[in-house]
Amino acid sequence: MTDNIDGRLRIAVVIGSVRTPRMADSLAAWLERELAGVDWLELDLIDLAAVSLPMHAMQLGGAGGSPISGRLADADGFVFLTPEYNHSFPAVLKNAIDWHFTEWAYKPVAFVAYGSSGGIRAVEQLRGVMPELRATTVREAVLIPMAWEHLDAGGRFVPPPGTVQALHVTMDELRTWASALRSVRLPDPAGRQ
Ligand SMILES: Cc1cc2nc3c(=O)[nH]c(=O)nc-3n(C[C@H](O)[C@H](O)[C@H](O)COP(=O)(O)O)c2cc1C
Repeated sequence: MTDNIDGRLRIAVVIGSVRTPRMADSLAAWLERELAGVDWLELDLIDLAAVSLPMHAMQLGGAGGSPISGRLADADGFVFLTPEYNHSFPAVLKNAIDWHFTEWAYKPVAFVAYGSSGGIRAVEQLRGVMPELRATTVREAVLIPMAWEHLDAGGRFVPPPGTVQALHVTMDELRTWASALRSVRLPDPAGRQ
């Protein structure tokens, strides 16, 4: 793991949709705008559409074999930006999760989800997955129902009331966990990975 010199927490936003076009672009841009002024974090936007993680060549553990392994390993915590597909989260996000192992361990994951019902079913399913990777999930979440109805003429996401507040409450909680879990990730005397 690379030291973060100025003491800020590195938060990797993993974009869980790879379609073209996709709602995820407007929401990722909104997250970048909204979080630009938050002084405790350093954002790393990981776009799965720009990463090759072939299912037929999946290497459990990621390390060395994945183009994003280093960026995930360097993160102190994650935000999964995920749509809901058929009452779950996209297969491409599961593939990215499965490709990696220690990169997730002892780190918190927060969710910004969207779909007709706000993506809650995607979030709840991810909550069942991440503990297998020794990751914890943050209680608070940003759920955006019908996100596509909140775009301006230029395709810019204009958050409905309460959404910005939900984001900051979620990020504050992510910060609490990310700070606390840093010490847990110090080399383990028992040699657990
Ligand atoms: C294959 C597929 C399945 C979907 N299933 C659901 C669903 O079960 N529940 C829901 O709320 N929205 C569902 N949607 C709507 C998506 O959540 C919505 O279109 C979202 O904006 C997609 O995000 P994206 O454009 O970034 O991929 C589905 C969309 C797709 C493409």
